[in-house]
Amino acid sequence: MDDIKNMSIATKAIHGGVSKEKGYGSLSMPIYQTSTFVFETAEQGGRRFAGEEEGYIYSRLGNPTVSLLEEKIALLEGAEACVAFSSGMGAISSTLWSIAGAGKHIIADGTLYGCTFALLNHGMPRYGVEVDFIDTSDLDAVKAHLKENTCCVYLESPANPTLKIEDIEEVAKIAHEYNPEIKVVVDNTFATPVLQNPLALGADVVVHSATKYLNGHGDVIAGFSCGKADFMADVRLFGLKDMTGSVLGPQEAFLIMRGLKTLALRVPKHVENARMIAEYLESEPKCKKVYYPGLESHPGHEIAAKQMKDFGGMLSFEVESREAGAKLCNALELCTCAVSLGDAETLIEHPASMTHSPYTAEELAEAGIPEGLIRLAVGLEEGEEIIADLKQAFAKL
Ligand SMILES: Cc1ncc(COP(=O)(O)O)c(C=O)c1O
Repeated sequence: MDDIKNMSIATKAIHGGVSKEKGYGSLSMPIYQTSTFVFETAEQGGRRFAGEEEGYIYSRLGNPTVSLLEEKIALLEGAEACVAFSSGMGAISSTLWSIAGAGKHIIADGTLYGCTFALLNHGMPRYGVEVDFIDTSDLDAVKAHLKENTCCVYLESPANPTLKIEDIEEVAKIAHEYNPEIKVVVDNTFATPVLQNPLALGADVVVHSATKYLNGHGDVIAGFSCGKADFMADVRLFGLKDMTGSVLGPQEAFLIMRGLKTLALRVPKHVENARMIAEYLESEPKCKKVYYPGLESHPGHEIAAKQMKDFGGMLSFEVESREAGAKLCNALELCTCAVSLGDAETLIEHPASMTHSPYTAEELAEAGIPEGLIRLAVGLEEGEEIIADLKQAFAKL
C-alpha cells in the first residue's frame, strides 16, 4: 500500500508494514519461531554478514515476525525506522548506550519511571557518564545545563507517575540550537502514538514500553526505539546486538501485532474513562489533589493540549498518607492492585513503594512524588463502574 503513510492511525496499526510471509497467504503474520536462518551457500552467508545481500541471519539481528512489527511501529511514530526489544528497559538502555559513553553528559528530567531513573542515576555514572537531573519543564534550566559534552536530553511526557508535562518542541529547539548532534529522547509510553508523536515535535528518538498500551493485554513485556534510519542501525547493531542483547521474541511480536489491531479503538476509551474519573476525584473530599493533564488545574494542561491529541488514560491522586493509600487499594474490588498500565483492567499502585522504589525519600521529594500519591492506570471497564468502586473504597477511609 503506497500511501499508507497518509492513512489514519487505525489503518496503519492494522495494515502497516510489508509482510515477508511467502508461504500460504496467511492473514496474520506467522510466528517465525527460529533462532537462525539457513544460507543456501557459505558464500551467501558471507554476503549477508558483510551487508552485501538482504536476508535474515540470526534472530538477534532480525526475524520476519519482529520486522513486520517494527515497520508498523515506525509508521505509527512517523519514524524512518524502529527496533524492537524484549522490554521497555531494553529499549531505553540499548538506546542510551548507543548515544552515551564515558566522558559524555546527559540531561534528564528528574521525574521518570523508577528503573529508568535507576539506570541514569546509578547505572550510567558507573561507566563514566555524567547525568544531571533537572526539571525539563523549566526551559531556562535546560539552557543552563547544556554543555559541550552533552549528548542527550531525556524525558517522559506525560511523566510517570505525576503526569508532569514537558514542552517537547521547545526542549528540542533549545537542545538543537545549542548543538544539533544532541539526541532528544522522549519516552512516549503514557501518551502512545495515538495521542502524541514526539518526532513530529522535534525529538530525535522515541522509546516505548510496549508492555503497556501498544500490546494492551497485560501478557507481554516488550519495548521499542524509533528514529532516523542511520541512528536506529546503530541502536540495532551496537545497542541491541552487542550491549544489551535484549531481543524481542517472535511470539511476543505476534501478540503485540494482535493488540495493535485495536489500539486506535482502545485508547479513546481509556481517555474517556480517565477524564470521568479525574472529574470525580476532584470532587472527592478525601482526595487531596488530582494529577491529570486533562484538568485545567494541571500545570501542564495548556502544553498538553498543544502537543497531544487528547490527555491519556493515566492519572494519579494524592491521599492523606501512605497508610491511607494502602487502605484505599485494599478496599477496592474492581480495580486491581498491580503495577503496569495500558491494560484492559484498571490497575492501581503506590509509586513511592512500588514503581518508584529506586528513588530515595529525598529523591522522591525532589521529583515531586508525595508519599500519599496513588497511580491509577484506567482500564476499559465502564467508567461509572470504576468510579463506584473508588467511591466505596474512599468511604472506608
Ligand atoms: C514510562 C515507562 N517507561 C519505561 C518502562 C519500562 O518498561 P518495561 O517494564 O517494559 O521494561 C515503564 C514500565 O513501567 C514505564 O512506565
